Order: sequence, then structure tokens, then C-alpha cells
Amino acid sequence: MTSLATKSLPNQFVSFPILSFSFIIIGLAAVFPFTSTTFASYATTKEVPEAAVLLKWKASLDNQSQSLLLDLFNNSLYGTILSHIVSLWRLTYLRLSANHFSGSIPSQIGQLINLRTLGMARNQIAGSIPQEIESLSSLNVLSLHENLLSGHIPSTIGNLTKLEMLALSPNPLYGSIPMEIGNLVYLRRLVIRETQLTGSIPPTLSNLTRMTLLSIGQNKLTGHLPENLCFSGVLEWLVVDNNKLTGNIPKSIKTCSSLSRIRLDGNQLFGNISEEFGMYPNLVYIDLSRNNFYGELSQQWGKCHKLTSLRMSINNIYGEIPPGLVEATRLSRIDLSSNHLVGEIPVEFGTFVSLFEHNLYDNQLSGHIPQELGHLTNLEILNLATSQQII
Ligand SMILES: *[C@@H]1O[C@H](CO)[C@@H](O)[C@H](O)[C@H]1NC(C)=O
Ligand SMILES: *[C@@H]1O[C@H](CO)[C@@H](O)[C@H](O)[C@H]1NC(C)=O
Ligand SMILES: *[C@@H]1O[C@H](CO)[C@@H](O)[C@H](O)[C@H]1NC(C)=O
Ligand SMILES: *[C@@H]1O[C@H](CO)[C@@H](O)[C@H](O)[C@H]1NC(C)=O
Ligand SMILES: *[C@@H]1O[C@H](CO)[C@@H](O)[C@H](O)[C@H]1NC(C)=O
Repeated sequence: MTSLATKSLPNQFVSFPILSFSFIIIGLAAVFPFTSTTFASYATTKEVPEAAVLLKWKASLDNQSQSLLLDLFNNSLYGTILSHIVSLWRLTYLRLSANHFSGSIPSQIGQLINLRTLGMARNQIAGSIPQEIESLSSLNVLSLHENLLSGHIPSTIGNLTKLEMLALSPNPLYGSIPMEIGNLVYLRRLVIRETQLTGSIPPTLSNLTRMTLLSIGQNKLTGHLPENLCFSGVLEWLVVDNNKLTGNIPKSIKTCSSLSRIRLDGNQLFGNISEEFGMYPNLVYIDLSRNNFYGELSQQWGKCHKLTSLRMSINNIYGEIPPGLVEATRLSRIDLSSNHLVGEIPVEFGTFVSLFEHNLYDNQLSGHIPQELGHLTNLEILNLATSQQII
């Protein structure tokens, strides 16, 4: 059990680093002391996959016990999630994540109307997300990431109006992002990265005024960025890289001071980045590479005192590197390669202790940067785990 997982559990929760099947029995008995049914009668049915046995046993307890939580996180459970899951209707917390569950999500999932957390991440669950999910109106967390789910995201997802976190990536989902997601006004984290989604980003996402994290990179999304994505000023992560987005960066994003991570790289975005851009006191990481941006590099970037990475390669940025950029003293990774920069490289660049990568090739720059010998100890990896808790 990692600290990450432990942190995400409710207080009254007991969970088990289950190592063997016999441990599961002991573990569950400790949480559900009111049970009168013994597990043994089911456990002896050897031909049934162990997960099925366990769910069946749990279901048989449900009418008499107070058990509302079931956590089978990170075991080696296999089998399908059977339709008799419906008997678990009292459950408020069901986490089957990080196992080897296969098959599809039964449509009967819709009968678990008391669920607040449904975690099925990191399994081999295939098929589509059943539209019956609409009945889970108490759900706060829906985590289906790292499975084999295909088909469309059902528009009935818009009925889960208490949802705070929706994590669906990566999965081979296709179709578009349903505009009904805009109904989920409590949503704080929306992660649908590395799927096959097409169509445009629904403008209704601007209605999600509590959203701090939007991660929909590595899809096939087209069209413009919604005008008012940062309308409420709480958006911290805007990650839409490697899609086919066009148009300008909307003003609400250019002036969104809450942003700490911006990834617009690998799209066909366009526009003059000289003006009204770069006033981000919380910004740590920005990547605008591989787009059609033009204009000069603003002095404002120097005022991003938390900035560690500035990447804008393969655009049409011209002019000189503003001397004020050296005020961003945490900056350790700069990639401005393949633009049309001219002039001298500011000498101060060489004094940045943390500057271990600066990529300025394929410009018309003059001057000399001392070779750095630093190690890539701060290497920033876009880690799915940081945006999708394993629930
Ligand atoms: C899952 O269990 C394995 C084996 O017990 C362990 O090595 C791994 O760290 C666990 N992963 C998580 C995310 O808890
Ligand atoms: C459990 O209770 C529900 C609702 O009261 C009922 O529909 C169901 O038949 C009961 N199941 C068992 C096994 O008693
Ligand atoms: C889901 O929302 C639609 C549209 O608001 C509504 O007609 C339908 O009854 C809702 N479904 C459930 C199960 O509440
Ligand atoms: C949600 O967004 C749409 C499109 O941007 C807008 O027409 C609608 O009025 C918004 N709904 C709410 C409740 O704000
Ligand atoms: C980009 O904007 C700056 C600042 O307003 C302006 O000086 C410059 O001419 C613009 N560049 C182009 C190519 O329009």
C-alpha cells in the first residue's frame, strides 16, 4: 500500500496489503465482524475465479451487516465483475483497482445507487462504459483509468452531478467528449488522456467552475480551446497536448494566474504570443512547442518565479531573448529550438546553477553558453499518477 493510496482512503477505512487468498478472509472478517455467514462454503468452490467468489460472499452478507466499504485494491484477483454485483447495493465504496479483472462492466452496476467511490482502475476491463451508470447519482469519484474500455463515453455521465473526479485514461475510447460533462458542476479533476477521442472540446466545460485539472492530451480533438475555460480562476493544470486543436489561445487562458502547468504542445494553435501572455505567478511548466505561434518572447516570463521548464520549440518566434528572462531563477529547462531568434544569448544564462538543459539550436543566435555538467536530477516526467490518483 503506497502512501498515495492510504491518503485517499476515508478515516474509518481499513484496508489490507493482501498477499494471499487466505489473508482476504481474515482481512474481511476484521472489517465485517457482524457476519454470520462463513466464507468457507464459497471458498471451496475451486472452479469459480476467486474474485467472483469474494463478491458473492460479500453480497450474501450485505442485508444483515453494516458493511458499506469494499476495498480489494492491488491484489492478484482475477475473473469478471459479475452481474450479481447488484446485491452489493448498500456499498458506498467499491475499489477493485489494480487487479486482473477482465470482462466488461455489467449494466447492473447502475443498481449500486449508494456508491460514492467506484474504482476499477488498472485492470483489463473491456467493453464500453454502460449507460446505466447514470443511476449512480451519489458518485463523487469514478476511476476507470488504465483498462481496455472502448466505445463512446455515454452522455448519461452527465447525470453524475456529484462527481468530483473522473479519470478515464488511457483506454481505447472513441467518439467525442459528451457536452453533458458540463453538467458536472462539482468536478475538480477531469482526466481523459491517451484515448481516441475526436470532435471538439465542448464549450460546456467552461461551466465547470471548480475544475482545477483538465488533462485531455494525446487524443484527436479538433476545433478551438473553449473561450472561458479559466473563467473562475481556479484552473491549475491545462493539459491538451498532442491533439489537432486550432485557433488562438483564448484571453481567459492568457490571463489565468492560477495555472501551474500548461501543455499546448503538438497542436495547430496560432497567434501572436508577444502580448498579454506570461503573467503566471504559479507557473511551473509550460510547453507550447510544435504549433504556429509567432511574435517575440515576452519579458513577463522572467516574472514567473516558480517556472522550471519553458518549452516553445518549432514555432515562428522571432526577436531576441529578453534579458529579463534570467529573473526566472528556477528555470532549469529551456527549449526554444527551431524558431527565428536572433541576437546574443544573455550572459546570465551561464550563471544559472540549475540550468541543465538549454536547447537553442536552429535559430540565428550568437554568443556562447558555458557547458553545464549538471545531472538531470529534477527530470520532470509527465506522470499519470500525479493527475489520476489510483482509486
Ligand atoms: C501492489 O502490490 C505489489 C506487490 O505486493 C507492490 O510491489 C506494489 O508496490 C503495489 N502497488 C501499489 C500501487 O500499491
Ligand atoms: C436484501 O434486501 C433487499 C432490499 O430489502 C431485497 O430486495 C433482497 O431480496 C434481499 N436479499 C437477500 C439475499 O435477502
Ligand atoms: C439523466 O438525465 C436525464 C436528462 O436530464 C433525465 O431525463 C434522466 O431521467 C436522468 N436519469 C436518471 C437515472 O436520473
Ligand atoms: C453551460 O455552457 C453552455 C455553453 O457554453 C451555456 O449555454 C449554458 O448556459 C451553461 N449552463 C450553465 C448552467 O451555466
Ligand atoms: C505581435 O504583437 C506585438 C505586441 O503587440 C507587436 O509589436 C507585433 O508587431 C506583433 N507581431 C505581428 C507579426 O503582428
